[in-house]
Amino acid sequence: MQYRFGDKFKFIPAFFLVCCLLIPSLAMAGHGEAKSVKKGIMLAAFGSSMPQAQASFDAIDAAVKKAFPGVPVYWSYSSAIIRNVLAKEGRSVDSPAMAMTKMMDAGFTHVAVQSLHTIPGEEYFGIVETVEAFEGMPKGMSRVTVGKPLLYSDKDMLRTVDAIVANIPKDRKAKDAVVLMGHGTHHAANIYYPASQNYFSKVDPRIFVGTVEGAPSLDDVKVLLKKSKAEKVYLMPYMSVAGDHARNDMAGDEDDSWKSELTKEGYKCVPVLKGTAEFPQVVDIWVDHLKVAFKHLGDH
Ligand code: CO
Repeated sequence: MQYRFGDKFKFIPAFFLVCCLLIPSLAMAGHGEAKSVKKGIMLAAFGSSMPQAQASFDAIDAAVKKAFPGVPVYWSYSSAIIRNVLAKEGRSVDSPAMAMTKMMDAGFTHVAVQSLHTIPGEEYFGIVETVEAFEGMPKGMSRVTVGKPLLYSDKDMLRTVDAIVANIPKDRKAKDAVVLMGHGTHHAANIYYPASQNYFSKVDPRIFVGTVEGAPSLDDVKVLLKKSKAEKVYLMPYMSVAGDHARNDMAGDEDDSWKSELTKEGYKCVPVLKGTAEFPQVVDIWVDHLKVAFKHLGDH
């Protein structure tokens, strides 16, 4: 059917009317309510049930708040076992997923997550996978970034070695050995422990790295200790918190603790119950990693 020329003009006001009605509703349908950028930080530690550990977490919290004034900071523990122990004591701490959910409901659009783990292993990648799932969720966060754990790059290794060396008890003499107890893992990132040995050896030939659950083992450390001719050994955790492993597996009185095993071999053992998170130089490394993650949030 054909319109006469005059009929076409009759549609124009109707067309504008439809446009005027449609445009605002399209805008609403496309974006819901207009969202303003709201940035936040979520810290994810492995967690600890030791009351002493809270002091180092408080120090990290203070350092992060100082570096990011006005940015809200949420906490989570990635260990379900630790969270359950704390819950029984009436202290509940969120999992990373729960902390992210709370932040999403509180309207955060941009969240930088900082892993307070030592190596990029199973715990770290679990957090990455969990928090990245929140990116792009309907009505959720538009951007989520994750800061690297303590040990990642060559520079991190060098800084961590300096940080730990600076915190060895001052009465330790050059002829005394220092044995660091790392956690160790079946994850490929266990390679950071033997790699650490290389970095420590360059700075101090009598610092030895062992692990509870991976390689190098205590037997590997014993071989190096023997060659070092040291008589006295300082035992220090190569873990963020002096928790169960440090207190029992490293410094405990049981027959198979590192202290007992090395004492049996004739060494005079001095356990140092301080986690790396108690060293401000170590906290600085995590904060620097968070700065990178926060910068990558961008502004829209
Ligand atoms: Co463990």
